[in-house]
Amino acid sequence: MSEQQITVRRLQDRQGANGATAVAHPNIALIKYWGKRDERLFLPWTSSLSMTLDIFPTTTRVHLDAEASDDEVTFNGVPAAGEERRRIAGFLDLVRRRAGLTHRAVVDTRNTVPTGAGLASSASGFAALAVAAAAAYGLDLDGTGLSRLARRGSGSASRSIFGGFAVWNAGNPTAPPAEADLSSCAEPVRTGDLDPALVIAVVNAGPKEVSSRAAMRRTVETSPLFEPWAASSRDDLTEMRAALLRGDLDTVGEIAERNSLGMHATMLGARPAVRYLAPASLTVLDSVLGLRRDGIPAYATMDAGPNVKVLCRRTDADRVAEAVRDAAAGGTVHIAGPGQGARLVDAGGR
Ligand code: DP6
Repeated sequence: MSEQQITVRRLQDRQGANGATAVAHPNIALIKYWGKRDERLFLPWTSSLSMTLDIFPTTTRVHLDAEASDDEVTFNGVPAAGEERRRIAGFLDLVRRRAGLTHRAVVDTRNTVPTGAGLASSASGFAALAVAAAAAYGLDLDGTGLSRLARRGSGSASRSIFGGFAVWNAGNPTAPPAEADLSSCAEPVRTGDLDPALVIAVVNAGPKEVSSRAAMRRTVETSPLFEPWAASSRDDLTEMRAALLRGDLDTVGEIAERNSLGMHATMLGARPAVRYLAPASLTVLDSVLGLRRDGIPAYATMDAGPNVKVLCRRTDADRVAEAVRDAAAGGTVHIAGPGQGARLVDAGGR
């Protein structure tokens, strides 16, 4: 039995058999996940690699209610509705089927990241939900099993199960879905001596107009640039793993920047185009180029939103934050380091 399984059991006992609380952090992909080959099973076209952050945790409590006729879901104390609620209830159905239980659940989620702003709140959200729901329903899963489960809520959540750097394997694309389902999960990535920071410039914290799920579907279906990007992304991953192992932050950053810009190019090639980058995003990108000209290694990566994350050495983070803050006029800037994987905590969140 793995250490994580032992921890799950022990906490389950302490928290009572019918409830569990988990904490998870968002992750930022340095090699992006963009496009599903199986939408039901959340199987991606390509493998991706990310750093789990040490800021913006999500805390989720799942409590089983034998009397309830429906799941009750709240986000920061506000009842969830519509698509948001449907996604959580669908995920709980999956957990219930696996556990052989029919009890409904009360789910209370506390999010500290601006939701829907391309800052991966669904990654920390579904990672925390997977860990809490698995424990509450008595599923005995190790990190691999939890990652596979979290993937079914949101692809990027599979990576937030692990701390530091994690790679989400696409799984064999020619294998039957049931087999690929088993092999598509995240695992920790070995790195050399790195002391990285991600400086996050929030240029717009509002919700996005096109969800990443809809945007990636449109890109796969209509963008002539998708296949070439997917092919180069596979090479990027091989090169990045080698650079991480060498502790070569500059090469890691160069690859991350080109991989992200390539992903945005695939979206711009979609019909109709999806454009997440705003004028302020480009100003921040210019400031990153300026930092490099001044001899400071700093590399940008952007997700399904206008915000820019800048990878740099921790020792340069304050200087990078200052440059980026000036560029993101009016925006907020956060500095993150590598954080822990998702885990069970006591009901007070500790
Ligand atoms: C641009 O994981 O949010 O952040 O699987 O449909 O829930 P679903 O999508 P999601 O997509 C994240 C896309 C990305 C890149 C990444 O995190 O790898």
